[in-house]
Amino acid sequence: MEIIKIFDTTLRDGEQSPGASMNTEEKIKLALQLERLGVDVMEAGFAAASPGDFEAISRISEVVQNSAICSLARAIPKDIERAAKALEKAKQKRIHTFIATSPIHMEFKLKMQPSEVIKRAVEAVSLARSLCEDVEFSCEDACRSDIGFLKEVALAVIEAGAKTLNLPDTVGYRLPQELGNIIKELKSCVGDLAVLSVHCHNDLGLAVANSLAGIQNGARQLECTINGLGERAGNTALEEVVMILKTRKDIFGNLDTRINTKEIYASSKLVADITGIRPQPNKAIVGKNAFAHESGIHQDGMLKNRETYEIMSASDVGIPQDNGLVLGKHSGRAAFKDKLASLGFIELTQDALDSAFEKFKVLCDKKKEVYDEDIRALLTEEVTKIPQVFELLALQISSDSNGVPYAAISIQKDGISRIDAAIGNGSVDAILKTIDRISGYNGVLKDYKVEAVSEGKDALAKVVVKAEFEQNKPAFIGHGLHLDTLQATAKAYIGALNSYLSMRSLIIK
Ligand code: KIV
Ligand code: ZN
Repeated sequence: MEIIKIFDTTLRDGEQSPGASMNTEEKIKLALQLERLGVDVMEAGFAAASPGDFEAISRISEVVQNSAICSLARAIPKDIERAAKALEKAKQKRIHTFIATSPIHMEFKLKMQPSEVIKRAVEAVSLARSLCEDVEFSCEDACRSDIGFLKEVALAVIEAGAKTLNLPDTVGYRLPQELGNIIKELKSCVGDLAVLSVHCHNDLGLAVANSLAGIQNGARQLECTINGLGERAGNTALEEVVMILKTRKDIFGNLDTRINTKEIYASSKLVADITGIRPQPNKAIVGKNAFAHESGIHQDGMLKNRETYEIMSASDVGIPQDNGLVLGKHSGRAAFKDKLASLGFIELTQDALDSAFEKFKVLCDKKKEVYDEDIRALLTEEVTKIPQVFELLALQISSDSNGVPYAAISIQKDGISRIDAAIGNGSVDAILKTIDRISGYNGVLKDYKVEAVSEGKDALAKVVVKAEFEQNKPAFIGHGLHLDTLQATAKAYIGALNSYLSMRSLIIK
């Protein structure tokens, strides 16, 4: 058996996806889930990018035990030193440094001669090796670089101490056969002196196919993200490459990963819940319809033999098998805890468990049927909770005689409740305006999504808002869960404000 290392970059390249920024608590929660999933390396961020990234990497380094934690660093001393510092507490650590090697990047972006690029790469790797045993080097835009130059850089950085050589298709340009040939050439050049790695972007929809071509030609590390999140069209989707290797053993023979595939669904859900970016319904492996059989002919075949229409089973990727009624208002704490464990929520603090149980009981009083998805939503809200500077106490929506809506809201801060009201262009606008008046912040709404968590007219509404509280600074995501959409909206907007306040000191001014 030969292991393909899974290098997950959801927390770094994934977070670069437009609108996918996460706060520190959310990143820690996701890092723990990636550890459960069994990734070999997780790129937890880019330490020099912002104090927020630095803080997230160092806190993840403290809590994750079984995966190596990695920080990205440009090939400059200050970045590499920052990465090493952020990783100080990690049990297993890796510094990942990079510089571009393609003619277009060297001439226009770096304004450097190839000889200077090699020198910088070697210096960066040497410095990184003096601070960390495990160093990865990436030739950014490798797949549009001159192959001879690529080999020269490869041998130089390996000599300087790089143990992994990553060859990204940074702009998602290559076709599988071309990418396979690049890896083959490099493999014949470096042999076993370093692990070759692929990092593919999906601009032409070929990231997964290209990654597999890389593996078939000698790459032994695969860089990928949950749900294929990432810059522009995203990166290679972890769940797809892992399930291809598992399902097509006839082609990939003795190649395998250490991924616990039963954690795939929980990982995908968590990323979607945190970022508010849901995979499309027909997305392979984790889309809502990936294992749904709609037509009568298919259903008939499935009942006779699942393999008529299924090449892998939903349970292999951890999709809960019974999405029926789960628990009711008479269920006790022990049954609730068992259900949480079956949904992958283990290692909960007593506080989180108590608070979720209380919310579950309240929900049972209001909602006839409580599904797995309701419980999952309640728990995700609980475990990604950030310090509540502002807390919603009450919300009432009315309209005047002309039908103009107004919101009356009471919010608590530091134990003191404040009440105000405002009219708006619609109920949502009235709610946000009132919250702004009470809090003294002026948010700009960048995105607003509502979805039903489960089935039925009494389904819980999950609202995700993205709002900017400082001009030209990152927008923050907030989540609100409630049977009433407008209540959920207020909770989500206040959540985004709380998230901003918890990260404010960590945003680069
Ligand atoms: O796509 C890319 O080239 C990258 C590098 C920084 C590895 O993300
Ligand atoms: Zn990338």
